[in-house]
Amino acid sequence: MGIFSKKPLEQLISHSSEGEKTLKRTLTAGNLVALGIGAIIGAGLFVRTAAAAANNAGPSVTIGFIIAAVGCAFAGLCYAEFASMIPIAGSAYTYSYATMGELVAWIIGWDLVLEYAVGAATVGIAWSEYLNKLLETMFGTAYRIPYEWSHSPFESIKDMSGAHHGIMNLPALFIIFLLTMLLIRGTKESAFVNGLIVITKVTIVILFIVLGWHFINPVNHTPYIPEATTYTDSQGVTHNFGGIWGILGAAGVVFFAFIGFDAVSTAAQEAKNPKKDMPIGILGSLVVCTVLYILFAHVLTGVGSVNDFRTQGKEASVAYAIKTYMAGYGWLADFVTVAILFGFSSVILVMLMGQSRVFYSMSCDGLVPKIFSQVHSRYHTPYKSNLIFLMLVGIFAAFIPGDIVGDMTSIGTLFAFILVCAGVWIMRVKNPEIPRQFKTPLVPIVPILGIVVCGAMIAGLGWTNWLRLGVWLVIGLIIYFGYSRKHSKLGT
Ligand code: ALA
Repeated sequence: MGIFSKKPLEQLISHSSEGEKTLKRTLTAGNLVALGIGAIIGAGLFVRTAAAAANNAGPSVTIGFIIAAVGCAFAGLCYAEFASMIPIAGSAYTYSYATMGELVAWIIGWDLVLEYAVGAATVGIAWSEYLNKLLETMFGTAYRIPYEWSHSPFESIKDMSGAHHGIMNLPALFIIFLLTMLLIRGTKESAFVNGLIVITKVTIVILFIVLGWHFINPVNHTPYIPEATTYTDSQGVTHNFGGIWGILGAAGVVFFAFIGFDAVSTAAQEAKNPKKDMPIGILGSLVVCTVLYILFAHVLTGVGSVNDFRTQGKEASVAYAIKTYMAGYGWLADFVTVAILFGFSSVILVMLMGQSRVFYSMSCDGLVPKIFSQVHSRYHTPYKSNLIFLMLVGIFAAFIPGDIVGDMTSIGTLFAFILVCAGVWIMRVKNPEIPRQFKTPLVPIVPILGIVVCGAMIAGLGWTNWLRLGVWLVIGLIIYFGYSRKHSKLGT
């Protein structure tokens, strides 16, 4: 047994119904679509859209959304086949263990920490921006949490009161703490709260599209695709702006907005009828969100200008755009701000849940220590794992800027998607006989297109992000060869 050893499928599936450690099966198809939308609409739309418009593509961020959606659709079709074939917790990690062997499975599991844990930190940071907006609206600018205590040490600003440097992002840390505690109480309760939040989120997106449409200023949409150049942001990072590279960069950034539909697959072990419900959950939530996103981005970039999103409208951009340009709709800005705070919470919740589930599976396989699969006797949740990730996610949320963790999340997830696309194809060639409730159409064309489109977005994210991904993977390999390989249950 070695780095290429694969976990037998029968063993995987029988493990999913194993006694003691089994998680509760409580989620229906409807719950899963809601779980998906709950995980999907969040900081990607309400924060990263403006960042991508400002740094990468201007109004053509909408084209970036289309590219990201196409990549997700191809990858989503691959995820759905896997989810219907291997309906147990762990998502891409589990699928790759059965198809591409232990080392690739480890790489994916490690990479998913970027998607879920670092992703949760990103949304926590976005939550902090909107919390400050709310405090400002309710009590006045003086009651904002000071810049120093709501930004990372790598951020600074010069305003009328002088220069400010971030120390740590306390609100981001706070929300991560709160939601970890809720998560430890159990997923059923969390799924109910999530349902209410999903309705609110979809409502504000539709309201903004419908009401904002009349406030689109055609000047902001001209030219729709800016000429290719570069733009250096306030932190000194240079981005490709405009043209095809700008659009690809924007696609990589707003890809964040789609992250989460695959988180549905991590809940497979808690689904009542996983074979049927998983594909519905994954693809259903993807379709709904794509339509909303394109319209939303079109309106947002029409209401505010690129320059706004580079300056005063950089943080809490949606509330800023409404307040500044949509006269008479101050109430909408307030409603959006409050709803976003709840909305982001549901995203963080699902991401934290996804994270603990992946490590639950990896722990059952011996690749990470047992502590990650110890389930609470009353709540049936992997509470120790939740607490450990509270620390990791908390550090990212408190000390790293949102742009950096956001792009790390995107690139990590894109990489995982590529491996999943490859996995479906490999599985079709090597194990065509295994029954699949849902089959990815046109294999290998769909997986190849998934790999190409996700690869193009990785290219668009630029070398600093490639470097970060590389360093992250190297750390993962050191852990694999230092610990996991020796403790792997399959290996021993
Ligand atoms: N898609 C999720 C968001 O945009 C992660 O916040």
